[in-house]
Amino acid sequence: MRMSPDDPGQPMDPDRVDLWDARLYSEGHPHALWRLLRAKAPVHRQELQDGRRFWSVVRYADVCRVLRDHEFFTSERGTLLTALGADDPAGGKMMAATDPPRHTALRESLGRVLSARAVEARREVLLQPVDRLLTPLLTGEISDLAVAAMNFPMDFIGTLMGLPQEDWPRLAKLTTMAIAPHDASFQEGSAPLTLLTVHHELFEYFSRQLSARGGTPTDDLIGHLMSMRIDGSPPDHETIVYNCYSLILGANVTTPHTITGLVQALMDHPAAFRTAAADPSLVPGCVEEGLRWSSPASHFMRYTTRDVEIGGHTLREGSALVAWLGSANRDEDVFADPYLFDIERRPNRHVAFGFGPHYCVGGALARISLRMLFERIFARVERFEPAGEVRHLASNFVAGVKSMPVRAVPRIGSW
Ligand code: HEM
Repeated sequence: MRMSPDDPGQPMDPDRVDLWDARLYSEGHPHALWRLLRAKAPVHRQELQDGRRFWSVVRYADVCRVLRDHEFFTSERGTLLTALGADDPAGGKMMAATDPPRHTALRESLGRVLSARAVEARREVLLQPVDRLLTPLLTGEISDLAVAAMNFPMDFIGTLMGLPQEDWPRLAKLTTMAIAPHDASFQEGSAPLTLLTVHHELFEYFSRQLSARGGTPTDDLIGHLMSMRIDGSPPDHETIVYNCYSLILGANVTTPHTITGLVQALMDHPAAFRTAAADPSLVPGCVEEGLRWSSPASHFMRYTTRDVEIGGHTLREGSALVAWLGSANRDEDVFADPYLFDIERRPNRHVAFGFGPHYCVGGALARISLRMLFERIFARVERFEPAGEVRHLASNFVAGVKSMPVRAVPRIGSW
């Protein structure tokens, strides 16, 4: 997805905005549209040709309100637009599709093993993926950063979940198919068929992984899910499988697009690259701005549990409501000069990891891995140069790229 609100070249009408169409995010100008909606129609209603409807909020304050308040806005019926109108079978089982208090019980123990302190203690697990991503780039040849970045989270989440390495390439592909079923590069048959294939294959896969453990928890994230207790009872097979799916999807479909988004921003702002390279203490701030800038998860959805008033509109009980994080992260009421890429932005209260009870449980893992990667990049790469056409992912959920040819110019004497 393009990261700035370039002139779309034609007048835009809030009543004709189509936030559903995956092509908007690969070929269009979503940031220009979101800016228009924030100004003119901050609570927006859209009806699809088949009669399904959803509301959208695009301002930071409204996005936070919706994500914070599970009593009015439930996650249990589904949280992604692609599944609009079909109740999520993982509701009440998968953490992301469960409301408190059950959500709290599910999340507590996973939150502990994925806390910043726990991740810091296992930095060695992240070192290999960093090197495996970076070393081939340092030959000075042209490489496709988008393709390389897609394997980066699979590399560490695969190790942390105890999954066989030979399965990683297919798992990485399946997770991208899950979030971009409309993209021709990832579609197998039609979009609905792609989703069916992905869900069937991934659920089967994790079910087999679980059975292979024969009830004995292993020393990895799957073992951790097996040994947790929810209200004193072990989770059932399905609950574990759904949460494996959620962990791998959460890691794989977001992290790569922060890498490509940040590298693109640093190519567009060479002075920022030089500043961060000269002062490693700026790397965490640079990563935070990269997260705000790229906002890889464009949206999360909720359903209203009762009639609710928002921005002068009454949403009837059972309405689908989409909180657009990508728009909130450019809200001019919250971020000074929101379209300026500023690695020293303070404060930077972006919502790239969400807000409220479902705030990304893998946030520390993502942050620490990205910091390690960019520390290493600034130490070893003099600069990146664009080396071909950037192709954007067609997905109304993930703001990302599927191809980004670059040349990394190695820093002399960095080896
Ligand atoms: C740059 C990287 C990442 C971004 C931008 C991101 C974004 C998000 C967002 C916005 C949410 C909130 C969902 C909601 O409100 O419904 C979320 C939740 C979640 N994320 Fe991430 N994520 C990232 C990395 C990861 C990683 C590395 C993992 C795996 C460890 C992960 C696993 C999850 C899970 C399981 C949830 C559900 C949490 C809950 O419901 O309590 N994410 N993520």
